[in-house]
Formats: sequence, C-alpha cells, structure tokens
Amino acid sequence: MSIIGGGDLPRIEVVADGDAVGHRGAEIVAGTVAAKPEAVLAVPTGSTPLPMFAELVAWVRQGRLDLSRVHLFTLDEYVGMRPDRQNSLTGWLIREFLDPAGIDPSRRHLIPATADDIDRAAAAYEAELAALGGLDLAVVGLGPNGHVAYNEPGADVASRTRVVRLTPDSIEQAAGYWPGEDPVPSHAITMGVATLLEARQIVLIVAGAAKSKILRRALLDPPGEAVPASWLQRAGDRLMVIADEAAARELPESVRAAG
Ligand code: PGA
Repeated sequence: MSIIGGGDLPRIEVVADGDAVGHRGAEIVAGTVAAKPEAVLAVPTGSTPLPMFAELVAWVRQGRLDLSRVHLFTLDEYVGMRPDRQNSLTGWLIREFLDPAGIDPSRRHLIPATADDIDRAAAAYEAELAALGGLDLAVVGLGPNGHVAYNEPGADVASRTRVVRLTPDSIEQAAGYWPGEDPVPSHAITMGVATLLEARQIVLIVAGAAKSKILRRALLDPPGEAVPASWLQRAGDRLMVIADEAAARELPESVRAAG
C-alpha cells in the first residue's frame, strides 16, 4: 500500500483490489463508530461498496462492531421510487446493508424521493442532517462520468439536496443493474456537493480499471463542474481516497509512490 498526504492534500491509499478497498473502507467506518457510537454516516450504493458492506456485516455478526446507534443518511434515489420497488436504491441499501448491519430503523434517514413537495422535503432533509451536526463520515463512490452521489457533470460546488436530471451516461449505467421493463427514471434526488464537503471526513472508494481515467481527472484536474467528484479536493486532508491498483494505474508515480 502506498500513501500520500499530509497538510491540506487528500490522502491516497492504493491497495491490491476491490476487496482490499472494501476492507479499508470498513476499517474507517468502524474506527469512526468506535470513537463516536452515534456517528452520522452516509454510504454509497453500487458495486464498489459491496465488499465493505460484507466486511462490516461480518464484524457486526461476530460482535466486534455495533452499528445500532449510528445515524445513516442515504445519498440518492430515483425520483418517485418507493423503497419497496425492485430498482430502488434505498431498498437495495436496506437489503444489502442497513438490515444485515442492524442499523436501527428509527436512525435511518432516507432521502425523500416520493414527497409531494420534493423541494421542500429536500430542504427538510438538509435540516434533519444539520440538526444532528452534519455528517461525521461520508463514504462515496465515483461514477464513470465523474458523478459523486448523483451530482452529475454541471453540479455546482454550493449545491444542496435537490432534484437533478440524470445524464444519458448515468441512465445507461443504471440500466446495467436494472431488472424489469420500467425505464430508468429521468430524475434523481441527491445530497449536494456542499452537503458532502461539510462532512468531517470523506472517503472516496474506487475500484477497477474502468474508473482509472476518471479517477485521475477527479484528483488532478482543477476542481470544477465537469467532473463533480473533483470538488472533493476542496475538502483537503478531510478527503481520503482508497483506490485499487487498477483504478490507480493512471495516477502519476509521484502521486502513487510517495509516502
Ligand atoms: P459503482 O457505482 O460502484 O457501481 O461503479 C459508482 C457510482 O456510480 O457512484
């Protein structure tokens, strides 16, 4: 494993493979919860976090970790999607992580995707998070088009929880996971870039060669709307990047090997 960091720079850890990314992610979640059992967390959906969830659930079952008191805020959901629908991101997260990890239903804060007045509900979601002191730890994934949560290209650094139009790239990505015949919705509700940037720690988890070019841009391009994940650089040393060898292969040696 190589590490760079210190000062105001993100820490970048390069590990062997996707399972190792999951293991390190799980260690960071567990460390946060050990220090603060009522920590306020956000975790991503997608294939990248699955090894992290498996590890955390195993530790809970072994009695080594107690996640029953954490507050969990979800990052994003398709507009109009109820959690009991098969393509719901919320429903997926409940099945894959929240239920098996024993996260108390009263401490699950589900992004409001079906509210009648969704803009108002989005503001209330932000207020609910602020009332708990904001995120202690946001674990996020990196979309193939540079999205973070569903902050798509064009997302402003000051954005808050809101409805966004999905890009054709993201619709295609979602369709890859999509059972059934309903089309992928055109809009999602997502936590904003500013909301994420306020987290006390942000961990970006990235695995696979398909993410190598966009990871390079997220970390080395000047922060900007073209690659929303690049805004995370603004978090300085509150950002930790955990990438596997394949995802890190486009990073210059000076970045990968230092430290
Ligand atoms: P993935 O999704 O983990 O399935 O690659 C990441 C994302 O789109 O945020």
